[in-house]
Parts: sequence; C-alpha cells; structure tokens
Amino acid sequence: MVSSVLLALLAAASAPLLSSAQTQITVNGTSSHPIPSTLWGLMFEDISHSGDGGLYGELLQNRAFQQVTPGTTAALNAWSAVGNTTLSVIADSPAISSSLPNALSVTFPSGAPRSGVQNSGYFGIAVRASSTYTASFFYRFPSTLPSAALTATVSLAGASSGTTFASGTVALRPTAQWTQATVALRPRTSAPDINNVFEVTLAAGAFVGTVHLGMFSLFPPTFGGQANGMRADIAQALLDLKPSFFRLPGGNNLEGQTIAQRWQWNNTVGPLTARPGRVGDWGYVNTDGLGLYEYLVWIELMGMVPIMAIWSGFALGGAAVPANQLAPYIEQSRQQIEFVIGSTSTPGGALRASLGHPAPFPLLYVEVGNEDFLQPSTYQSYRWAAFVNALQADYPNLRFLATSSFNSPALSPKPQSWDIHVYQTPTWFTQNSAFYDSFARDGTTFFEGEYAAISTNPNDIFGAPSSGRLVYPTVQSAVSEAAFMMGFERNADVVFAASYAPLLAHVTQNQWTPNLLSFDSGTVIKSTSYWAQWMFSNNRGDVYLPSTLASTSGALFWSVVQRVSPPAFIIKVSNTGTSASTGVFRLPSAVASTGQLIQLAGAANASNTPTTPSAITPQSRTIATGQNLSFSAPAMSLSVITVALV
Ligand code: AHR
Repeated sequence: MVSSVLLALLAAASAPLLSSAQTQITVNGTSSHPIPSTLWGLMFEDISHSGDGGLYGELLQNRAFQQVTPGTTAALNAWSAVGNTTLSVIADSPAISSSLPNALSVTFPSGAPRSGVQNSGYFGIAVRASSTYTASFFYRFPSTLPSAALTATVSLAGASSGTTFASGTVALRPTAQWTQATVALRPRTSAPDINNVFEVTLAAGAFVGTVHLGMFSLFPPTFGGQANGMRADIAQALLDLKPSFFRLPGGNNLEGQTIAQRWQWNNTVGPLTARPGRVGDWGYVNTDGLGLYEYLVWIELMGMVPIMAIWSGFALGGAAVPANQLAPYIEQSRQQIEFVIGSTSTPGGALRASLGHPAPFPLLYVEVGNEDFLQPSTYQSYRWAAFVNALQADYPNLRFLATSSFNSPALSPKPQSWDIHVYQTPTWFTQNSAFYDSFARDGTTFFEGEYAAISTNPNDIFGAPSSGRLVYPTVQSAVSEAAFMMGFERNADVVFAASYAPLLAHVTQNQWTPNLLSFDSGTVIKSTSYWAQWMFSNNRGDVYLPSTLASTSGALFWSVVQRVSPPAFIIKVSNTGTSASTGVFRLPSAVASTGQLIQLAGAANASNTPTTPSAITPQSRTIATGQNLSFSAPAMSLSVITVALV
C-alpha cells in the first residue's frame, strides 16, 4: 500500500516544471504492428582486440606465433626471456602442424639461473584467486635431449613485483617429437592489478641446450563453461543486454585487405593446431581461436540467433574476384552455410556433429558481404546476383541481406532485406528519428546493422577527438541514439533488427571510438550508449502503439509499446535538449496510479571512462502515473516508464 503522503511526493517529483515546454501526446489503443523478437541485438567483429584479447577467453598473446615472420623482433610480440635464455621465433621442422609452422626456440646456456620465457598477455593478465587457470604448451628438444625428464615450472607472477600468485609443475619428457604439457594453476591470492605475466621456467642449471615451444594457451573459467569459450565478465555484460541476435564475423574484418586475407570459415574450425590465423583488417593477427563453431555455441548459450555474413568476392584493398572466377568462393560460402544448418548427412553437418553439435543452429539471416557500397559497380553487375542466385536455390528458407546503399544502385534479384549503417553526429540522429517512417511497406525488411553517434562535428565525422570525434559515448550521444531508436520501434514492421557498433574495444588498443563496452584485461566499462541499449532491450513491448508524432526539429522523442504479460504500457522518452521538457501522454486505457521509472541523465558531455566507469548509470524509482500521464523529462535524458494496465 503506497501512502497518500508518498503519492503526493511522487506526484510532485514527476510534475512538470513551470518553465518546461509541454507536448500533448495521444496514444492510440490499436496496435499498428508487433515488435519482432529480433529487434535488439549485437554486432561483432574482431576490432580493437574485441575478439583476441577481449571476448575470446584466451589470455596469452601471440600464443602460437601465427602469421609472423620468423627471426624478427616483431615475431616475439608479448614474449620475453626470463633469466638468461636466448629467444627467437623459427620456422620449425617438424612443425607442430602444417597450419602452425612457427615455434619459439629457447636456448639455456650453461650456468643459467632460473630461466625460461614469459608472456605479458593481452596488455596484462588478471589473476583471480577464485579461478582455476588451464595452462598448456607444446614442446620438443630439437638436438640435445636431456638425460631425464625435466621439471618445468608454470606460473602466474607480478611483472614488476615478482610475486608468484600461482604455480604448478609439469614434466618435459626427453623427446624430439612435439608433445603437449598441461597444468592447472590455482592462485592463492588475487593479484592487485593486471600487471602480471605467465612464465614457463626451468630451475637453475637444470638444462643446457635448446627447447622448442609452441601453441601455448592459458584459459580462465569461461562463460557457461564453454570449451575454448568466452571471457566471463564481458559475456555477462552482454547477456545483461538481453540481446536477441549476434552479427558475425564483420564488419570490415570479414573482407580482408586482400582476397587471400579474407575471413574463411573453414580455417576457424577444428583443433586449434589446425587454425593458421590470419592478418585481420584492423592491424593485428587474428588467432581464429574464436572460430565459427565457438561463435555459434556461445550464441546459443546466450539465447541469441546468428546473423551471419559470407564473403562476397570483394577485399578492402579494392580487389574483386572476376565474375568467371567466383565459383569456388560461392562454394566456400555454401559450405559455410551447410556447416551451420546442414543435416548430419552432409559433409558440413557431419563436421559440426563431430565437434559436438549434431543439431543445426537456428540460422535465418545471411548477409552477402559488408558495406558493398565500397564497390557498388561489381556488386550490382554480378557479385550480389551470383551469390544470391546460387545460395537461395540451395537454401530457399534463408533471407539474404544486401549491404550496398539501399536501392543505390538497384540490385537484381531484389533483396529481401538490407543492412544499413550510419555513423553520425548526435544532431543527425535526432533529426533522423523518422528515417524509416517513409520506407515502402512492400515486404522488404531492414537491419540497422551498425549505428553510433561518433562525433559532434558534422564536417569531420571520422576525424580526430580534437575535431569532435568521441572517445567514449556521452550522455548526449546516447540520448540522441535513443531518439533514433524510437524510430526502430515505430517502424518495427520493416526494421527487424538493430545493433550499435562497434561493440567492444580494449581501452588502449582501439582502432575505433566510441564503443559500446570498453575493457582491459581485468575490467569492463559500460558506456552511456550501453545503458541506452540496455534500457530499450530490457523494456521491450509485444506491440507498438501509434502516438502523436514527434517533430524531428524538436528535442523530445518518444515511443509507446504494450507488453502483453503482465499487461503494461511501456513509454520511452528521450529529451535531447538542454532544458527539461514535458510530455503529456493520453493513454488509451486506465492504468495504475504508480509506475516504474528508469532514467539515464547527466551533463551532455559526461561519459563512463576507465577513471569514471559508473559516472552515468540508469536510476530507478516509483512515480505517480495515470491515464493522463504528465512526465517531465530532464535535459539530456532517456527515461523508460512502465505502467500496469488496470
Ligand atoms: O564498426 C566499425 C566499422 O565500421 C565496420 O568494420 C565497418 O562495417 C564500418 O565501416
């Protein structure tokens, strides 16, 4: 029972300020369309170490010396000597596998103190006492065999302090053949920071000679216990968004700078020793440990569905496969789809079953390329048609998405769906909240696959922070994106999915800002835009209720949806202006006298950053409500009001 005093206080708290403008909003009780269950989700590609060093749980960087040039200093990235060993990366014979030709050659001189190798991880390693870490590596003695097995110590230690947090031992047999050693590490205490290293060492004087090491790994417990799976804190932050879909594997990182460097699904599945890795599009080597199967298993664990891209015959460096040479690439795409949904009597389905998942994954959407407006001529003249005509015949139930600019140039066959991207200013997003209102209702559907307010400078959207580029999302960027997102609910009869991009970035290794989540090896920072996504996705409706349209030149934007069970109206209000603004919502039926308000608000340029990770978070409280609901939205705010029907 809410007391009358409390109700009066609540009413006062939500009463319009005298100075605030008022907008009358009539809400229609007849739904215009259902809200698709796929509407809110995630776009992912390995950018800014969002995959290797981010979502993918592996803690060691350059673990298998993939795609490096032997003999170079760069090949030793993240590795250094402990004691007085000499290190170099070599092309070994025999190699661990044909996919992993390189190894770390480690020479122990006579009279060596405790010596070996260390890896600094992905810019640090978090060491937690509550976790058991699984460490492994391959070894062989190429020339002088030790007279008996050696005892190697594997440890996690402070890089500067030298404090050992965890250690274990493993026997290295005297063998010239590649052999795997595995050990569990259980830290007794947590490290105070991420300035830690992984070490493999031999005791003083234990061995004189050379050992070859390769294909190292160090895994903490993963999200949901998935083998070769995901970092738990990042995955949990994503799960909290209640995402419906996951777009993979790009983004530009699908395309490759050259045709040979494109993402190829078949190089990302099976044993880690069978994955050569590739030079990704964002300036670092991708291990491909986070491969197609790992993506799909995790997507299922998270309750999402995949939106999967296939390579469309175009590399970012500008090369396009000529029409008469496309066949093998189309076949590779067909096999990619077969791996995901083929029956176990097909080679692809049988491979999937052999990895542990006989049932097909629930694939419905396949994206043909990424941003093919970068080379619209070949997409229009043959690439789109060649891929879609061939694959649609084999998979008539799939919906293929086009990625060039919508209808420009026109494509044949006519795409059933399009992926639209927009990186713009906060102002653009507010002025374009009605972007989809005028789109034809002719069966064509849209995926807003990438969007973010990234700069305050309309003349230099992709410029430097000094010219307006945001480093972290701000309150202004988040509430402006929210204005645009109101349009997704209003147009959810044609917009079936939407995802902010990029999703994840390491705080010091980013190729792109701003990002939805930022992280280092120990922490995750939820941005203002993350919270806006969270507010929409956690407060979905089943049907959209049309209401008075907002002015796109104004500052106040809204969307009203109805939830069926338990029955409620959910009102979202974004005030992108610099003063409070009141919306008076005339609801179509009687509602409870109180409702729940969740609100994100703050100074326009306020951000959540590594030093202020929780400066701006949504706040909840009960407010007075009624069928005529007068709501004062503070300047620069996003609010969600849930009020039960009575
Ligand atoms: O999200 C960052 C990049 O922006 C994507 O890789 C690309 O698709 C777009 O240009």
